[in-house]
Amino acid sequence: MCGITARVGDDDSLEALLGSLENLEYRGYDSAGIAMQNGSELAISKCEGEVSDLRSELAFTGQNGRVGIGHTRWSTHGPPTDENAHPHTGCHGRVAVVHNGIIENYAELREELRTRGHEFTSDTDTEVIPHLVEEELGAGRDAETAFRRAIDRLEGSYAIAMIVDDDPTIYATRNGSPLVVGVGETANYLASDVPAFLEFTDRVVYLEDDDVVAVTVDGHRITDATGDPISRSIETVDWDPEDAEKGSYDHYMLKEIHEQPMALRQTLHGRIDDDDVVLEEFPSGTFDDVSRVQLVACGTSYHAGMYGEWLLSNWGIDADTHIASEYAAYPAPVDENTLVIGVTQSGETADTLEALASARRRGARTLALTNVIGSTAARTCDDALFIRAGPEIGVAATKTFSSQVASLVLLGERLVRDVTGEPTEDHRQRLDALESLPEHVEMVTQDTLATAISRRWLGESGHFFIGRGNAYSVALEGALKFKEITYEHAEGFAAGELKHGPLALVTPETPVFAVGTGEHRNRLESNINEIQTRGAPVIAIAPRNATELADTADEFLPVPATHPDLVAILANVQLQLIAYHAADEMDRSIDKPRNLAKSVTVE
Ligand code: M6R
Repeated sequence: MCGITARVGDDDSLEALLGSLENLEYRGYDSAGIAMQNGSELAISKCEGEVSDLRSELAFTGQNGRVGIGHTRWSTHGPPTDENAHPHTGCHGRVAVVHNGIIENYAELREELRTRGHEFTSDTDTEVIPHLVEEELGAGRDAETAFRRAIDRLEGSYAIAMIVDDDPTIYATRNGSPLVVGVGETANYLASDVPAFLEFTDRVVYLEDDDVVAVTVDGHRITDATGDPISRSIETVDWDPEDAEKGSYDHYMLKEIHEQPMALRQTLHGRIDDDDVVLEEFPSGTFDDVSRVQLVACGTSYHAGMYGEWLLSNWGIDADTHIASEYAAYPAPVDENTLVIGVTQSGETADTLEALASARRRGARTLALTNVIGSTAARTCDDALFIRAGPEIGVAATKTFSSQVASLVLLGERLVRDVTGEPTEDHRQRLDALESLPEHVEMVTQDTLATAISRRWLGESGHFFIGRGNAYSVALEGALKFKEITYEHAEGFAAGELKHGPLALVTPETPVFAVGTGEHRNRLESNINEIQTRGAPVIAIAPRNATELADTADEFLPVPATHPDLVAILANVQLQLIAYHAADEMDRSIDKPRNLAKSVTVE
């Protein structure tokens, strides 16, 4: 993971770099650092902790300059310490490097460099890079050649940015980790992701693997691995800089929960026309040849994938969801009629990219369902469908889950029509309900019951979440959200499975959150009775008209009654609010939960 950033301007870069790092903290927040070049030498400040700690440290140094690079870290090699924080430099302090990814052959390189007298000050894989570059500089090579020769030695995945002491240029490259150039008026930028510099420019160039870019205040020049010039188009991103800021909310997560109605409007905009689905990227007939669908994803996106699988299977399409990290190692059989959908908010999750690559290598057609235009998944898959949820900064995914599921409803309808020649049975009602979804989510976010419930039902020895059908994926998602930000034990189950083992854990100290969609009400009611018999309180989250559930459960948290295929999306918003308020009550680090990062770019 990690976030890297760089700026070269006709004015000082420090403040902009610190702002960029704050916007990239969702990628990691174990330690942070900055290197500035003042025309003849480099100054480096770095420390364990968050960017705010770095900011305080820098307040005393007066360090600044027009050219700089920065880093916020999620540790892979070596614990989060001042020494392991980036930027890293070589023996002579001539070169500073920031890196996102993993250098797989770092141990051999380190050994080789040691035998030539290099001394290392960190445990990181990254530190070999500045040492390699310094050797090349020492041999009389110019900075760009030295950089190229150093990266030629590297194996693994990386996005790297480098500055040297006497050259007002930032050199950078990528291989398997994201890197974007920001094209400004009086300054140019580089970063792992667009929100890093969105307040300064919305004009971006997405770099491809093996591109080498040299960025100066006057522009940027891209070359391929052999040094031949390459032209890459400048694109304009349509994200509003305010979307990437917290505004009046205490946390990004709460802001993003409340943004869901707007995000869903964007997701659906122009994609439903009366009783037809209009996906510009996928005109009628696009999926005629598809005989099987596999969804690959991780975490929250995996739960959205499960929801999609449930919909597709219900509509007669052969569909399975796979945990991407497992699929990458143990791939399911595919053929040229298999459509493999990578569900990934960031489009940069290494496990999902690897699963998609494995499917592609074996002849399947791949489709990225992602939020990020220009992401690796979007660029490497055969097709991409954008969920258009806007930037999501909180590590806990919220609005992107709703937009992923809404997109899967649309994509599923397209698939069914192409494969069977007919629309789904009750498509009219479902599409109507989908159009009303933003308004229904708004009704949930305006409801304040979740705050009181989260306080009243904080369990002493665990929290269980159950559901049937598509509500099973939401039970898993509710538990993931709860454990991720409260650090309390939480587990999701298919409601009918409790009696096959987990019921042994149920006691009066384990509240159970039961998600109902309005279908199979009697079955869920029986499961609730089984739980209550063991003394556990049950909080039912179900459509307002599920009166029998309201009567049976110890607590009832209603959501608007809508099409049963969509109710669980609304229930999920209630569960997001419960997790949020419970974590807030416990004073947890909600936007940056311990040990986690938003974009997991390592396998
Ligand atoms: O960017 P992706 O959707 O591929 O990320 C996958 C997971 O890492 C992610 O959904 C994670 O589980 C969430 N941050 C949990 O809230």
